Amino acid sequence: MKIIAHRGASGNYPENTIAAFKEAARLPVFGVEFDVHMAADGELVVIHDETIDRTSNGTSYVKDMSLAELKSYDFGSWFAPEFHGETIPTLKEVLDIFDSTDHKLNIELKSDIFPYEGMVQKVLELIEERQLESRVIISSFDHTAIQLVKRINPQIETAALFMEVLVHPLDYLHKIPADALHILFPAAIRPSITEVIKSGMPVRTFTVNDESYATILKQAGVQSIFTDYPEKMANFFSK
Ligand code: G3P
Ligand code: MG
Repeated sequence: MKIIAHRGASGNYPENTIAAFKEAARLPVFGVEFDVHMAADGELVVIHDETIDRTSNGTSYVKDMSLAELKSYDFGSWFAPEFHGETIPTLKEVLDIFDSTDHKLNIELKSDIFPYEGMVQKVLELIEERQLESRVIISSFDHTAIQLVKRINPQIETAALFMEVLVHPLDYLHKIPADALHILFPAAIRPSITEVIKSGMPVRTFTVNDESYATILKQAGVQSIFTDYPEKMANFFSK
C-alpha cells in the first residue's frame, strides 16, 4: 500500500502549512497531497477551504484577499499554540520543500466551488518551469479542470475525485479523460470500483486513518491511501 500524506502530515501538524509539509518531506512515503486556491491577485495558495475562517485567526474568502493580506494571518494557533506564526503557504513555497525529495506531489485544484479562471494554466506553467511533470498528479472534484490539464499537457498524470458510489466509472474516467480515480473510503469498496482496479488504473482512497480500513482497501486492490497520519500508516504496512 502506498501512503500519501493528506494536507501534509495533518494529524499532528496544522494542515496545509509548512510545518505539516516539512514533516511529510522527512517521511519515506510515496507522496503528499495539498489543496490549491487562487487569491484576488492571482497568487496560488495552499489551503483546503474556500475561506480562511476554520484554519486561521481571520475571516474572509481566499478569492477576495491578496497574498499580502492572506499572509498577515496566523494559520497555526487554531491547531496548537506551538504553531503560532505559521502562514498560508504559496504553491511555490510548498514545491520548494519537496525540491530535493522524491515524493509524488498531488496537487488538488479546488476550483469546484469558485472556478478560479486561469488557475490551471498557472499551475501548469509552474510545473513546467520546475520540470516536475513526472512527479505531479493533478486531481480535482472539478473534472473540467483536469480535462483542461490533459488538453494543455497530456504528459501530466491526472485524477478525478469522487465522494459518490459510482455506476460504470471506467466509461466516465475514459471520457474525461483521467489517469486515476481518487475516491472516498466507503465508496471505494463498492463492487463498481472493481472494474477500475482490474483495468490497471490506479485507485487511491481518502481519508484513511484507521489500520483496519487500510487493510480492507489493500485487499480490494487500492493502490494508495491518503492519510493524516502518514508515519503511523507507513509503519503499519512495513511490518
Ligand atoms: O485529494 C484527496 C482529498 O484531499 C479530497 O478531499 O476535502 O480532503 O480535499 P479533501
Ligand atoms: Mg484535498
